[in-house]
Amino acid sequence: MKNFVYQNPTKIIFGEGTINQIGKEIKNHGVNKVLIIYGGGSILKNGVYEEVTKSLKEHDVDYVEVSGVQPNPVLSKVQEAINKAKEEKVEGLLAIGGGSVYDTTKAVSIGCHYEGNVWDFYERKLKPKSAMPIFGVLTISATASEMNMGSVITNEDEDKKWSCGSPVMYPKVSIIDPKVQATLPPNQTANTAIDTMAHVFELYFDGTEDVDVLMEYSEGIIRTTMKHVKVLLEDPTNYQSRAQLAWCATLGLNGSNGVGRSGGDWASHNIEHSLSVLYGVSHGAGLAIVFPAWMKYVYKENIDMFERFAEQIFNITEGTKEEKALKAIEELKIFFKSLNAPVTLKEIGVKPEELDEIADNAAMQAPLGTLKKLEREDILEILKIAYK
Ligand code: NZQ
Ligand code: ZN
Repeated sequence: MKNFVYQNPTKIIFGEGTINQIGKEIKNHGVNKVLIIYGGGSILKNGVYEEVTKSLKEHDVDYVEVSGVQPNPVLSKVQEAINKAKEEKVEGLLAIGGGSVYDTTKAVSIGCHYEGNVWDFYERKLKPKSAMPIFGVLTISATASEMNMGSVITNEDEDKKWSCGSPVMYPKVSIIDPKVQATLPPNQTANTAIDTMAHVFELYFDGTEDVDVLMEYSEGIIRTTMKHVKVLLEDPTNYQSRAQLAWCATLGLNGSNGVGRSGGDWASHNIEHSLSVLYGVSHGAGLAIVFPAWMKYVYKENIDMFERFAEQIFNITEGTKEEKALKAIEELKIFFKSLNAPVTLKEIGVKPEELDEIADNAAMQAPLGTLKKLEREDILEILKIAYK
């Protein structure tokens, strides 16, 4: 294991019936007025908005709001919310939603403490020094944004979906009530599982040696996720499966699984972000297409790790190392298909002549990856594998 420092300051309140604690938590931080940030309205239909605002009123927390955050959230909405937060002189931000809402809220939190364009942080021109306090009520578990310091935003004018991470962006408090996720449509439930698995893969396959505890931890999260997403596609209101899937998602990317390693690979995520920005595909669906293709392109870089993956996740014990690795990659694709996720670029309407444009977009941040450093030509080869 490599040396590490791990400090995650986010307080998590987890479980059924916990949303009514949000007002008290905000007040306990000395915050009297918040900007609520939410998405396209699922929270208005499933009662979450009502429950949150009731709790705020009970604890004398004033609020104003910005809605309409879209999946694959955009910079213009971030700017609208920064302006509103400044005009209204709010003291804190309250995300109600999933990764897109949380990521927007994090961008607003650093933007409120900066006079320049918040995109500067995503371009890595400078690091955020401080941020407005963030609170959240999570309604879809996938990204772990509720308990990490990352944010991914699309600059729609420049076709860039880029990330920013800073310890100042950890939420102070996140409430996770898995019950409210019962209203997720099946494709979103599938996306959450794929994204959770993908986060674990990014860490698992970064090539670090001597991290047995993390490999076992990762395999546990992968197996549990695969088991419970299947239950939920049959029985969306199964609370115990919702709860276990939700906590798998948080553990997948709250840093606990990333310590002691080389930082993760992240090439597949970067390539997927280009698909999201160019084709509007949801993050989980894009990962179902990119990950198996990336694996096929890089498995020889650390064949032992892929053999372990084959044995531990798919019980593949017969054959050479290479045969096992290739069989596992095929099984992974079959699993994603069984969730009704797309597994080829063709399925989401990409044309062969467009692969170059996708490669150009992803290569803006090249070289990508840790297990194998990928330049534009490598990214194009992965896209070719992902095409059919
Ligand atoms: O907008 P509303 O109407 O709320 O609908 C949302 C949205 O359409 C819906 N939804 C959420 N909770 C619901 C619900 N529908 C019914 N019932 C509920 N309880 O779900 C849709 C997707 O929401 P979104 O927030 O986009 O999903 P997710 O949490 O998967 O977030 C994806 C975004 O996070 C980024 C992705 O790139 C993508 O932009 N990521 C953020 C990361 C991070 N901050 O660490 C890491 C990830 O790898 C990822 O890149
Ligand atoms: Zn992800």
